[in-house]
Amino acid sequence: MPELPHVPGTDASSCVLDAFRTAIAKRVSEALPPLTLEQAYTGVDYGKKGVDFTVALPRFRLPGKIDELANKVISQFQPDDWVEAIVHDKAFLHFTLNTTNVIHEILNQIHQLTHETESGKPEYGTNIVGKGKKLVIEYSSPNIAKSFHVGHLRSTIIGAFLANLYRSCGWDVTTLNYLGDWGTQFGLIAVGFEKYGSKEELEKDAIQHLFHIYVQINKDADADPNVKVEAAKWFKRMEDGDESALSNWRVWRELSIKKYAEEYDRLNVHFDEYTGESQVGKEWQDKAIDRLNEMGLISDVEGAKLVDLEKWKMGKAVLRKKDGTSIYLTRDIAAAIERYEKYKFDKMIYVVSSQQDLHLSQFFKILRLMEFPWADKLEHVNYGLVQGMSTRKGTVVFLDQIIREASSVMHEQMQKNEEKYNAVEDPETTSLEIGITGVKIQDMAAKRINNYTFNWDRMKSFEGDTGPYLQYAHVRLASIGRKNPHLFPLPPREQMDVAPLAASPHAREVAFLLGTYPDVVKVALKTHEPSGVVTFAFRLAHAISSAWDTVVVKGEEDLATARARMWLYECAREVLSASMRLLSIRPLERM
Ligand code: ARG
Repeated sequence: MPELPHVPGTDASSCVLDAFRTAIAKRVSEALPPLTLEQAYTGVDYGKKGVDFTVALPRFRLPGKIDELANKVISQFQPDDWVEAIVHDKAFLHFTLNTTNVIHEILNQIHQLTHETESGKPEYGTNIVGKGKKLVIEYSSPNIAKSFHVGHLRSTIIGAFLANLYRSCGWDVTTLNYLGDWGTQFGLIAVGFEKYGSKEELEKDAIQHLFHIYVQINKDADADPNVKVEAAKWFKRMEDGDESALSNWRVWRELSIKKYAEEYDRLNVHFDEYTGESQVGKEWQDKAIDRLNEMGLISDVEGAKLVDLEKWKMGKAVLRKKDGTSIYLTRDIAAAIERYEKYKFDKMIYVVSSQQDLHLSQFFKILRLMEFPWADKLEHVNYGLVQGMSTRKGTVVFLDQIIREASSVMHEQMQKNEEKYNAVEDPETTSLEIGITGVKIQDMAAKRINNYTFNWDRMKSFEGDTGPYLQYAHVRLASIGRKNPHLFPLPPREQMDVAPLAASPHAREVAFLLGTYPDVVKVALKTHEPSGVVTFAFRLAHAISSAWDTVVVKGEEDLATARARMWLYECAREVLSASMRLLSIRPLERM
């Protein structure tokens, strides 16, 4: 391809469409001085349906009439290996790329970055903008002995996506699960455990057993105020480090983590560290209160310490209770400080429900008031509520209920098609995987902040933009390769002839979409929205499905044509798989 100047911030070696955009910007800037190449480049946008790229002329604020500016660009236009045609439409210039070259360049890049990387890992779609930077990201963070609600599930799903995303963009990522494993409720459970606890039950399923104890002792506490008094005493002993008050708690924590880790594994979600509120040291909790006190922001109400954030419209908040025990907010302040000392992060993300917006803005504010220079590096990624996620047995309280329900709902759905079902090698694993995909896709399909109503019927459907449909699209792509072994190995990529693909608008559309994937990743990094990636995956799946009837591999007698098509589908499978993996979904090879 002809040489091009380099535009800062672009990288054609990871996103070949950057080169095509540069080629367009070069023409526009050369025809419209004093417009620079960089300025012109920022004006090259994806076009609407059927158009590759569009430039909106008014945005450059150049002197002269728009029509005249357009005519200048058009009169100098010569088709070349990059750009084939230009059309003037009101304030816009629409550009069509050279079809053969754009298809070849894109497939070539996908192939190269999938099979010829040094790390040996597929790398198409990734970039290195975060190179040398450290991210700490905290997500899921359920409370031991309380229910794992859908809010925690959302945090888990969105958090896992963000961790993958940052890694794909070159960041060094550490993932934390900040368990709710401390607080007065553990005094309550301790009291309850003496009455209702069983070692056996605990070993069997710690999460469930502790929850039952918690529910029962809460009932007792409603009837008898003494229970709460006992509980508070017990928790005070824990805070004071009394080993006899801590030994049971240690076992609960350890067994709960073990069980959670198994369930996260099923969800394809992982943590570098299980930390928690219990792990936060006293030192910074005390210092924080002292410092705020010096600033005149602390008031003493009957021995309890309150911070006054009214000035910033964030209300008043308790930092320490009357009996001297610590509190959620204070622990968060100290935990952030300890994390900075430990990780020296460039950014720390908290994936927490929008119900806790106030809590997060309070503790971010307090860290800023304490003048930590890194306080601006904290970011709250929030999300809306989920309604209606109950299983057929009732309200969901445990993560494993959600997983089991997703799997069994899917299993029943698959059994409805007996012939297909019998062909599935491992229906248990397959239905589990598809079920989880359904849950994840439903969760990530819309903007994070939207509330949504969970729908099992939709989750399990193979039609429409659902998880099962996406898995099906991937399986179908994976199967063409298996069914056409005679086409392999494909010729080396430089020798691939894509002319047979250039003849098909469907093939061109698929290839072009594949070329946009690196941009999809970059946009997601800016917005922290998984929905853009989900939308991309479905657009790709639809484009592939529209191509099936005309871009046929099986039975195609011309070997060069069959191979070019096979190459397209192989690349499409790679990219669909990459986008699914980014969403923490495991793409299936068969179903
Ligand atoms: N465990 C808390 C809850 O379930 C969520 C923790 C969020 N993270 C934080 N650093 N406060 O409500």
